[in-house]
Amino acid sequence: MLSKSTNVFWHENHVLRADREARQGHPTAVIWFTGLSGSGKSTLANELDWRLFERGVSSYVLDGDNIRHGLNGDLGFSPEARTENIRRIGEVAKLFADAGTIAITAFISPYREDRDKVRALLDRDEDFLEVFVEAPLEVCEERDPKGLYKKARSGEIPEFTGISAPYEAPLSPEIVVNTSSDDVATCVDRIIDVLAERGYLPAE
Ligand code: ADX
Repeated sequence: MLSKSTNVFWHENHVLRADREARQGHPTAVIWFTGLSGSGKSTLANELDWRLFERGVSSYVLDGDNIRHGLNGDLGFSPEARTENIRRIGEVAKLFADAGTIAITAFISPYREDRDKVRALLDRDEDFLEVFVEAPLEVCEERDPKGLYKKARSGEIPEFTGISAPYEAPLSPEIVVNTSSDDVATCVDRIIDVLAERGYLPAE
């Protein structure tokens, strides 16, 4: 067990988040995708990142499968491990926002309470934009891009979200997109529209 840090003191950076936002020409935020495995979170997050990049917006994608190779390589998929996974990502996303970059996160993040804690962690209410990537379980299972649903059904993978572990859909997400009825471009257009309405994009 790693021990808790003691005798540490918080100190403010000299360059403030507001200074960085002013220079970037746009406010920062955390755009938090949530949804089942295979729902399209990573695809949408990366397409959104590209569209923002083209418009001169500073953004960066934090993706479940990738982060679990490095920073969170010590975590499995028990409820406690998922909670810790999301807690760390929330902290990292907050650092990105503080550093002047819009953090786009793509994690199943199955527990409502864990997502709400990230929302509460951020400096301002408007910093957290929850995007529910809605796609029925049957559709995700049919897609099965990594062959994991098949393994979950056969019992080879325990505690698989949607099959043998819960997924709690958001109650009032800022944005809902449905990847079973709409294509990638349509879903990303909707997200871009909301970002524009809320003042996250510099004038074109
Ligand atoms: S989360 O639940 O803790 O938010 P995260 O998004 O980091 O999950 O990782 C999910 C990815 O891990 C899935 O897309 C899938 O590729 C892989 N995975 C491996 N085992 C599981 C499992 N038991 N449940 C869900 N996803 C799993």
